[in-house]
Amino acid sequence: MPRKIAAGNWKMNGTAASLAMLRDLAANLPDAGPDVLICPPAPLLFRAVDAAAGTSILIGAQDCHAAASGAYTGDISAAQIADTGATYVILGHSERREGHNERNRDVRAKIEAAWAAGLAAILCLGESLEDREADNTLDIIAGQLAGSLPNGATPENTVIAYEPIWAIGTGKVPTLAQIVDVHDFLRAELTDRLGATTADDISLLYGGSVKPDNAALIFEARNVDGALVGGASLKVADFAPIIHALA
Ligand code: G3P
Repeated sequence: MPRKIAAGNWKMNGTAASLAMLRDLAANLPDAGPDVLICPPAPLLFRAVDAAAGTSILIGAQDCHAAASGAYTGDISAAQIADTGATYVILGHSERREGHNERNRDVRAKIEAAWAAGLAAILCLGESLEDREADNTLDIIAGQLAGSLPNGATPENTVIAYEPIWAIGTGKVPTLAQIVDVHDFLRAELTDRLGATTADDISLLYGGSVKPDNAALIFEARNVDGALVGGASLKVADFAPIIHALA
């Protein structure tokens, strides 16, 4: 069985003061609930790991460089992330693919770097509205998966997040059937590539406007093992009910 995961991507939001929510969140988690992961901006990683100490909350980063070290001003390596005590890194988010021109092969190299540093990668995939309307969704997803996921994926080192670009931060959510279509497809593609024993245990998250009022319905979808949540992960009042819906 794949692990259930509720992951929060804070994007470029929050300061050290925002980390107070971690204690509050920890106090509001269900017994025997899903894995809960918070991915704050990089400058907060050390403090976030400290703030989460003694709780079950895991900490992750939002990107890493593909190189182990070197002259890359402003970038951070996977080993530096691991050094903070964080255990995950989000890679291939559409905001990086679009805003930083990341291609599939860049994402693939970053995942390899993450694995080499002992981090688990959350690989994000998703189609634009234009792709969706042209009925190209599954082709886009297949291309992103084939191009971005290196050989050697396991349920421990890889989580896949399906995030339709048009659903991110818009309040628009695909129908359950649309989510199931993509998640079933992802499971089948992973099975072809990795075999059922491995593929069946890889967690598949949905992301894009997940909120307390739609989470329970989304989590009913086949092959949805959790969510990658943006805006609604910033406040305990929003994120805790989403986590409870997954428990
Ligand atoms: O990575 C999470 C994400 O892109 C979804 O953001 O704000 O629509 O939940 P949001």
